[in-house]
Amino acid sequence: MTNSQLSELLDFLRFPSVSAQSAHAPDMKNCAAWLVKKLTRAGLDACEMATPGYPVVLAKTPRDPAKRTVLIYGHYDVQPAEPLELWTTPPFDPQIRDGRIFARGSTDNKGQIFSHILGVEEALKAGPLPVNVIFLIEGEEEVGSDHLRAFLEAHREELACDVIAISDTGMAADGHPTLSYALRGIAAMEVTVNGPSHDLHSGVYGGAVANPATAAARLVASLHDDEGRVQIEGFYDDVRDLAAWERDAAEEAPVRDSDIAEQAGVAELFGEPGFSALERIGGRPTAEINGIGGGYQGEGSKTVLPAKAFFKVTFRLVPDQKPAAILALAEAHFRRHCPPGVTLRIERGHGGDPYFADPNSADGLAARRALETVFGKKPSLLREGGSIPILADFREILGRDSLLLALASPDCRAHAPDENFPLANFDAGIRLNQALLAELARVTPQ
Ligand code: BES
Ligand code: MN
Repeated sequence: MTNSQLSELLDFLRFPSVSAQSAHAPDMKNCAAWLVKKLTRAGLDACEMATPGYPVVLAKTPRDPAKRTVLIYGHYDVQPAEPLELWTTPPFDPQIRDGRIFARGSTDNKGQIFSHILGVEEALKAGPLPVNVIFLIEGEEEVGSDHLRAFLEAHREELACDVIAISDTGMAADGHPTLSYALRGIAAMEVTVNGPSHDLHSGVYGGAVANPATAAARLVASLHDDEGRVQIEGFYDDVRDLAAWERDAAEEAPVRDSDIAEQAGVAELFGEPGFSALERIGGRPTAEINGIGGGYQGEGSKTVLPAKAFFKVTFRLVPDQKPAAILALAEAHFRRHCPPGVTLRIERGHGGDPYFADPNSADGLAARRALETVFGKKPSLLREGGSIPILADFREILGRDSLLLALASPDCRAHAPDENFPLANFDAGIRLNQALLAELARVTPQ
């Protein structure tokens, strides 16, 4: 990678394009406009496309009907940077330390998508690409891609392609080539536990009135057994078992349970018995409490019996679980386990289907060859624990599968303070883009 390529990535990272926070709406607009300019300078036909939310950035090479078409997907929005005080240097003032770029979005997803843009820009300088390329870079991935499905439906023809390529997932180990062939789905829910009409003196009423915080804790505790299995009735009914080759692939990947414990900063791991940590993360569904609250949170003691409490939960799903069905089971579970004296308000949130694509397809094999060329090692095949809900829509609406070529390091701290992207991955990503397009061009459509 050249100095000017690096300084352009740093410019991209300076936009605080936080889709979740409305105060950053102008930054979102500016970031999209900057991307369009960059893609135009790179030699593509680029534009912003409006949606009811943040714009989609589209960029294309001229469509040669004799060539295959590769759609490269990414996102320019980032997660909120808070808590700011835990960053070593400010999140939107990118800094290079120890061979890594530190900034919010450096890995997720600006560094990864930008390496594909630079790969295409470099290749275009030498002449036409071996495939037609469409970049689709959205601004709402981190908030559930609410408007992208309708966008795909409205632009189905324009987005027609043979295969989709994405770098928005994690490598098994630093510098180790990884093709992810599955992602977990997601289903979100928020539960409010309502008790007395107003906060009460806990001495005057305690013992005679149900405490909503206690009830919330009981409901949260009802989700798992002592070993970490989810206790919602029917939760596992649609779970597809890991195939023998998948368990072998997980076993062969250069990542041990102890590596995962170290990355997470925990003394010991915990989870469903009978599976390695890698298998639990990618191949098994889970229920995670993302937030819980109620009652006094300030300094010192306050003797209050709170009027309400809440918790937020997301389920990560695997094939063939369905978000709506899981949310219905969860709601029934909470209502059945609701202790006396309180009432529940249950709000169903966003959802996304799990994704699975055969890594032995002709395009999957091409992606694996490209990874091997660039990294000099056979790629690991992994199921990812995270979610990119739009992949199921790509398959349904565009009828195409997605190749997930990881460029995120295991230490990337995506969604957390000190998010970072190794310069080596940035450089490898540029070359990976070119190797990938060359390999995909050679695939004969089936
Ligand atoms: N890039 C991630 C997804 C990801 C992370 C895949 C790690 C594989 C490994 C993506 O930007 C993301 O964080 N997605 C959200 C989706 C949610 C907001 C609907 C997620 O997984 O929490
Ligand atoms: Mn991402």
